[in-house]
Amino acid sequence: MQFRRWEDFDTRSVERLFTEVFAASEGASEGRVVGALALQLMREVSAEDLAGFVAVEDEDVIGSLFFSRMRFATPVEAFLLSPVAIATAWHGEGVGQALIRHGLDALRHQGVQLVCTYGDPRFYGRVGFRAADADAIPAPFALTQPEGWLCQWLQGATPLSLSGPSHCVAPFDNPDYW
Ligand SMILES: CC(C)(COP(=O)(O)OP(=O)(O)OC[C@H]1O[C@@H](n2cnc3c(N)ncnc32)[C@H](O)[C@@H]1OP(=O)(O)O)[C@@H](O)C(=O)NCCC(=O)NCCS
Repeated sequence: MQFRRWEDFDTRSVERLFTEVFAASEGASEGRVVGALALQLMREVSAEDLAGFVAVEDEDVIGSLFFSRMRFATPVEAFLLSPVAIATAWHGEGVGQALIRHGLDALRHQGVQLVCTYGDPRFYGRVGFRAADADAIPAPFALTQPEGWLCQWLQGATPLSLSGPSHCVAPFDNPDYW
């Protein structure tokens, strides 16, 4: 299996992957929502604000994830990890954790300081994310599940308190996602 950066030519495969994986796990309508979200990220977010990764097996994209830029009032190189999908047939094989670690290493090498995500702490805790205090690291919107707001510092720096408000890229600018 190969892990590499997402490239433009992956767009259709990645859209299909997110649509199918989320349809299987959360229903057809959620599949369409997350497929459309992934497509919007790939088409509309500038290269400097987006880092995508894919897992490829026998030329098939079987995993994908995106990091997109977050901005705080405090200057900090920060990205949001979302969404993540691994092909259903591959669940539980360690691909999700390995692809996330691969992406985090790449961001660390390019100098990114902070990565946030919004998801299940039992899964994301396995790849270094810890509960984020929304007073110290303000989320872009009011959170319906504050326990899902997670972050990790990549440069070994002492965690900082950041001034808000924070902003995400346009495809996440929707309170329904938060
Ligand atoms: C969540 C997901 C990315 C994990 O990828 P994966 O390759 O199956 O995960 P790994 O094999 O690396 O890790 C599996 C472990 O994580 C656990 N895990 C997976 N999803 C979990 C979740 N939502 N909550 C808690 N634990 C979870 C599994 O139970 C398993 O634990 P075990 O090793 O003790 O059995 C994948 O299952 C997926 O695409 N799910 C549907 C889409 C989704 O929910 N994406 C994440 C939100 S954006």
